[in-house]
Amino acid sequence: MGSRIVATGRALPRTAVSNQELQRFMDTSDEWIKSRTGIGTRYTLRSGESLAEIATAASRTAIDRAGIKATDLDAIIVGTVSSEYTFPSFACQIQTQLGVDSIPAFDVAAACSGFVYALSVADTSMRAGDFRRVLVVGADALSTFVDWTDRRTAVLFGDGAGAAVLVSEPGTRGVLASLLRSSGRHWELLSCRATGVRGTLDSEVRRESEDAIKMKGPELFKIAVKSMEEVCRQVAKRAGIELDDVSLVVGHQANRRIINAVAERLGVAFEKVFINVDRYGNTSAASVPIALDEAIEQGRVHDGDLVMLNACGGGLTWGANLLRW
Ligand code: ACO
Repeated sequence: MGSRIVATGRALPRTAVSNQELQRFMDTSDEWIKSRTGIGTRYTLRSGESLAEIATAASRTAIDRAGIKATDLDAIIVGTVSSEYTFPSFACQIQTQLGVDSIPAFDVAAACSGFVYALSVADTSMRAGDFRRVLVVGADALSTFVDWTDRRTAVLFGDGAGAAVLVSEPGTRGVLASLLRSSGRHWELLSCRATGVRGTLDSEVRRESEDAIKMKGPELFKIAVKSMEEVCRQVAKRAGIELDDVSLVVGHQANRRIINAVAERLGVAFEKVFINVDRYGNTSAASVPIALDEAIEQGRVHDGDLVMLNACGGGLTWGANLLRW
């Protein structure tokens, strides 16, 4: 018995922030951001907005599209590093907003790889027979962790949430294989302290630079490309399929140049690579499920297709899931 994604959903903060708007208060340019990252716009939380509410909205869409009720769920697993509470978990916050009780709800902390990790955990538990219907969510609001005076990081991140409903099913469709990797020795390439205030772009409160996201961009770029290439090759091998047979790669949307470099090294044609980083920026754990939801909406995913999900993020963490749609 395996697991299959039967529906997805996404939700975003109300406000889109363009590169031109950032240009007004930061020494940057639309040209620099687009040429180095491919990002044009991102959605960022405003004061008073709640990421838990946004994640619940994405979850409701996925649940409705799956044709089930929230009370039919057996578990809720969330990839996030952005909860406003140390406890309860973000998953418990979504659980209560969905009006569900007495099922396991827990978070997986793997930064940008959060959804890929959570999907793997859900699939493994479902194969073991623990659950039949699982809600898997990726949600983050890294814009609230940046130092808005640091142009090297502030332009990269956006906020949002994506969700998927998995059902256990016999047969050849669904999650064929997953592979998760971490390398704690590289933690200093991308990190953020647990201390400090959270600041939205419109609030007067600003996160101090020592508490903000720290990143060694160029080093991270190289490791991200190499590790995502490697994990995609390995997960294909584990599933016993050829990379040539993959119909669509839905990778973590951090940077268009990273996505293209991974595809090039894998020998995957450009038409088989889904990209929406231009409109969302890097939404961390939300990026893969948001991209998957859009890819489905745009008719890029068909029954029987092989779909590769992959991600890399702080930890470092990285991983991939190979799905037969
Ligand atoms: N606007 C204008 N100029 C800028 C900006 C900006 N927003 N940011 C940096 N610069 C300047 C730098 O100050 C530097 O100027 P200098 O040479 O005078 O010192 C110059 O641009 C080049 O800076 P680099 O950091 O070398 O630029 P690079 O080409 O490496 O691009 C980037 C930076 C986009 C961050 C790239 O390294 C990258 O994408 N790395 C991966 C980081 C990432 O995606 N992190 C997300 C999480 S991890 C993951 O999801 C995979």
